Amino acid sequence: MLDQAQQLRTLMAQRGAAPVPPAAPAGRRTRVIAVTSGKGGVGKTNLVVNLGVAWAQRGRRVVVLDGDLGLANVDVLLGLQTRHTLAHVLRGERRLDEVVQIGPCGLGIIPGASGLAELADLTDERRDHLVAELARLDGWADAVLVDTGAGIGAGVSALLLAAGEVVVVTTPEPTALTDAYALVKVATAAGCRAHLRLVVNQARSAREAQMATQRLVAVAQEFLGVSLEAAGFLPYDDCLPQAVKRQVPVVLAYPQSALAGRLIALSQRLWQNRWHEAPSLHDFLQRLALAEG
Ligand SMILES: Nc1ncnc2c1ncn2[C@@H]1O[C@H](COP(=O)(O)OP(=O)(O)OP(=O)(O)O)[C@@H](O)[C@H]1O
Ligand SMILES: [Mg+2]
Repeated sequence: MLDQAQQLRTLMAQRGAAPVPPAAPAGRRTRVIAVTSGKGGVGKTNLVVNLGVAWAQRGRRVVVLDGDLGLANVDVLLGLQTRHTLAHVLRGERRLDEVVQIGPCGLGIIPGASGLAELADLTDERRDHLVAELARLDGWADAVLVDTGAGIGAGVSALLLAAGEVVVVTTPEPTALTDAYALVKVATAAGCRAHLRLVVNQARSAREAQMATQRLVAVAQEFLGVSLEAAGFLPYDDCLPQAVKRQVPVVLAYPQSALAGRLIALSQRLWQNRWHEAPSLHDFLQRLALAEG
């Protein structure tokens, strides 16, 4: 009988994911990047989906953990019908490979990851089961992107504490910037030591984005002693709402748009600019399991 990791590889290969080696190369580490924001609706889910697709297009094995219970979540943006979520795995009703959805270019999607934050509240047996299931991705996936949902509820906080790399998304609006600052403050006070990057989305001009970036980077450094790496900005572009309506990621729906060009460039920078001290997926899962409930 095939083990589950093998079933997952077969499934993803059948559905167009990058060719999967029979075993993960020794020493390969799965990167975990959480994408978060203070204010809702700033563009996290679209960033996660488009980064994931941009990487998958280049043959990387990427899995999105959809931790957002909001309306415009990952499966909706991709036009997928979700029947099973991580909650089913958690209850032992489904295996991980039955829950993974395969999106464009073989991007893997695991819906319902918000339940991960409750790992610490589970019985040891269930927790070990879920961690073991997700650990099957370790070394196989090149990267796991976590869409955390907005704000700093207990669930989001646990994900941020566990992740090694965090991308904070904001728009240039003062309210979004204030909420982004508050998020960084609360997450840091709670013990988040992740490498933090900032992406300013929906910018009307490069200058507006630069001013917003400089302001947030400066106040985080001055008042919190936190280094925020400026990862770049994404322009406001009418093609994004159009792509959302078509349920096709903008990098595929409008590849010639300025927004798609910047998303691809951002994906390449983030890929190369790996934070080497970041914990692996295994560490991420262990930290989640040990988080205070
Ligand atoms: N660069 C952009 N240009 C134009 N519109 C954008 C851009 N980014 C996001 N939007 C608009 O913002 C909406 C919300 O985006 P998205 O769902 O990705 O945000 P979110 O941060 O995940 O929201 P939530 O907090 O509800 O999970 C999109 O449907 C789109 O209309
Ligand atoms: Mg979202």
